[in-house]
Amino acid sequence: MALKITVIGTGYLGATHAAAMAELGFDVLGLDVVPEKIEMLRRGEVPMYEPGLEDLLRKHVAGIEGSTGRLGFTTDYAEAAAFGDIHFVCVNTPQKQGEYACDMSYVDAAFAALAPHLTGPALVVGKSTVPVGSAARLAAYLAAHAPAGADAELAWNPEFLREGFAVQDTLHPDRIVVGVRGERAEKLLREVYATPLADGAPFVVTDFPTAELVKTAANSFLATKISFINAMAEVCEAADGDVLKLAEAIGYDDRIGAKFLRAGVGFGGGCLPKDIRAFMARAGELGADQALTFLREIDSINMRRRGQMVEMAREAVGGSFLGKRVAVLGAAFKPDSDDVRDSPALNVAGQIHLQGAQVTVYDPKGMTNARRLFPTLGYADSATEAVRGAHAVLHLTEWREFRELDPAVLGEAATTRLVLDGRNALDPERWRRAGWTYRAMGRPTA
Ligand code: UDX
Repeated sequence: MALKITVIGTGYLGATHAAAMAELGFDVLGLDVVPEKIEMLRRGEVPMYEPGLEDLLRKHVAGIEGSTGRLGFTTDYAEAAAFGDIHFVCVNTPQKQGEYACDMSYVDAAFAALAPHLTGPALVVGKSTVPVGSAARLAAYLAAHAPAGADAELAWNPEFLREGFAVQDTLHPDRIVVGVRGERAEKLLREVYATPLADGAPFVVTDFPTAELVKTAANSFLATKISFINAMAEVCEAADGDVLKLAEAIGYDDRIGAKFLRAGVGFGGGCLPKDIRAFMARAGELGADQALTFLREIDSINMRRRGQMVEMAREAVGGSFLGKRVAVLGAAFKPDSDDVRDSPALNVAGQIHLQGAQVTVYDPKGMTNARRLFPTLGYADSATEAVRGAHAVLHLTEWREFRELDPAVLGEAATTRLVLDGRNALDPERWRRAGWTYRAMGRPTA
């Protein structure tokens, strides 16, 4: 009998995981406590912008014409428990209000709702990013509260998907990490991931704490890489060096590697910032805070970039934002996403607005979320409209659409041809040829 899978929590991670599991051939039931989300998913609609996800859903959601019918949705835990052999927990773990630590309330609520319905053998697999030690605690919770007792097993299987590439990363993971306590759990997970394993994905079997740590360690490393190059950008600015050339040159050393060395306004989003903070908080609880004090510096280098972008813009428009119009291209924390959580672009736009400029934002997909988060900023329906009358144009999220803009056409709309590239992604020569003053972070001003 083929395994049946439930996915608890249908946000970014869960909706993608559920659709991917159906794509791999399993019957899947997705559960969420928000009925509106479930209604949308049942219609084959995705509550966020993620390339390829809607097509994949529609391919499998039961009731949609031509679909495989392998993917259904519910809000009912009893139904989910009766349906699944394996339950993936994919709920979010945001930063706690007013502190660094991770808010485990959604994870805890999911386990509390599921456990009493587990009457037979079941494997519960945590995918959420959690503080190390959570899996051991949750395994004990399951053993105590599931009627199946020790037959309700736990495994931890961190997720490494990137927004914008979520479908691809889930179907073709570069590694699969499973924290298990027994052979049965490992065997079941090998069965779930048989297709990517056959494609050659490495399978790393660990204990619980290591599996939990792999995720936070990976994100800490990525954050460190970005802050490292941003620190180099600060030095380049002071020394009149070029951080782009520097990154290229060090990137040829394959011990260093060229990826994740793009200097700019830094990292944001729902993962890296809160994950490094939660990691520091957890290390503190464990008495290992010294080991991670460097992450404080990583965080502060990153947050400093936003202020430096504002300063660079203020200086470029003549020392004060009063009476100035500023166009901000980009609102999402990265391209190919509509996610504006902790977005450097919006943060910079907000700061400039507070300093008295009239700020107009345009983003290809992030407008609805941006408006909700920063209702007092101005918004335009296109890049050209945002730039109309602007004394400065700030490029803060590196969408392809912005690289393909014609600087000559845009120049007609602007009051002053001044562009500040906060992502080092535009072609300076193209802009300069069209009469623009081009400035970027960590690069010579010439
Ligand atoms: C990240 C991890 O990559 C992923 O493995 C994990 O599961 C979740 O967190 P994500 O938040 O989707 O994924 O974005 P990512 O592509 O890692 O980018 C994070 C941020 O870093 C973005 O704001 C991006 O603009 C910024 N970034 C990235 C840089 O500033 N410079 C770079 O060179 C690379």
